[in-house]
Amino acid sequence: MARIAVFGLGYVGCTTSIGFAELGHSVIGCDISDLKIQSLSRGIVPIFEHGLEDSLQKSLVSKGIEFTLESGKALKNADFVFLCVPTPMNPDGSADLHYLESALDEIQSDLEPETIIVLKSTLPLGTGENIRKRFQEFENSIVYNPEFLREGTALSDFRNPDRIILGSDSDNAARQTSNLYKGIDAPVLITGFGEAELIKYASNAFLAVKISFINEISHLALNTGINIVEVASGMGMDKRIGEKFLSPGPGWGGSCFPKDSRELVTTASKNNVELRVLEAAITANEDAKNRVVEFATQVLGGDLSNKKITILGLAFKANTDDVRDSPAMAVASKLIAEGAHLKAFDPAVKRLDSQDLELAHSVKEACKGAELLIIMTEWLEFAELEPKEIFLEMASPNVIDTRNILKNRDWENLSSQFLSLGGRS
Ligand code: UDX
Repeated sequence: MARIAVFGLGYVGCTTSIGFAELGHSVIGCDISDLKIQSLSRGIVPIFEHGLEDSLQKSLVSKGIEFTLESGKALKNADFVFLCVPTPMNPDGSADLHYLESALDEIQSDLEPETIIVLKSTLPLGTGENIRKRFQEFENSIVYNPEFLREGTALSDFRNPDRIILGSDSDNAARQTSNLYKGIDAPVLITGFGEAELIKYASNAFLAVKISFINEISHLALNTGINIVEVASGMGMDKRIGEKFLSPGPGWGGSCFPKDSRELVTTASKNNVELRVLEAAITANEDAKNRVVEFATQVLGGDLSNKKITILGLAFKANTDDVRDSPAMAVASKLIAEGAHLKAFDPAVKRLDSQDLELAHSVKEACKGAELLIIMTEWLEFAELEPKEIFLEMASPNVIDTRNILKNRDWENLSSQFLSLGGRS
């Protein structure tokens, strides 16, 4: 088994370090946040992610994992150092690499010659090559191993990847890195830096395009009285299309799709290429969010001023507390801008920076006095709500279900106006 140092213990770093410890490697996690190191060392995971904490605690007991603030200690005798630092987006749509730059500065002085550097952060085209040049005077090999983890299922995605991608100019380093994943049943593709970088960006962009496509088809289905759930299921039976990522909703969000799709458009135009399909998908995604506001306006008689609206679900999807680029937050801001009074509830989101959006502590509290209820994320607890109980709390029984999760026919039968973005299954 290998000695693995993991720098950057956010979303990807936490999952990667705990996942490798599960596989039996000796892992040491390093971060600049004392709070994060303290809580992880005590078996507490500072992110909302099912299953991570149990696995961490098992590995702490077996001494398969430890955490430190000191990069020198982390790098000592490390066979591999994984860099899992954020690569956020600059205002111009390019990737901000300053976290990666400072992590590289941090490791340079203590790096041992045999240690293989593995980059996990999402890297813009050309970054791998540039880092290769920067470390020219060092013997260290560099590998780019992009992650494909989804929030809410990150540990399961680490354990069951569809593929493992390794980009490098050293075949040997790539093979040694692939050996770390022994015990995980997935095909391995060893390729160049650029190919691995574009696989990551293009995969996210394609998924975003697929969702924007089904959201537009869902709009057509809605306007023609066609059941989109049946349409999506019929489409998904074609193995070339696949049934996944065909659920219509209020648009895609999160810390990846919006950022990665804009960065890819920016990179392409710097290389004299217009990604018109992806640009159209980004525009269609804005349309999907605006349609929710239009539907709310229609349901409430054409004017939102002083109307009381409840939003259930604020994160960008269910099973996460992440509100970054969340369609629910975007829709909430637009409704407030039109003069509506909003209350919201999300099982995982416990605090908000927004002053104008009241965060309730329960579904019923959020629904009290509401003239319209909008379901924005597909939490199971929302799908299981009893319409009679909810309508007793509301001033008027109007519902927009943007995730098509309210299967109980009473929602439609007992409401004054009921709109499901995906028709009725
Ligand atoms: C995504 C990629 O899936 C993952 O491989 C990559 O590593 C990181 O980015 P994530 O952003 O966590 O993962 O969320 P994902 O589950 O992909 O959903 C992205 C957005 O698409 C969410 O807003 C979700 O609600 C939306 N979505 C997803 C749909 O609207 N319909 C679908 O069918 C699937």
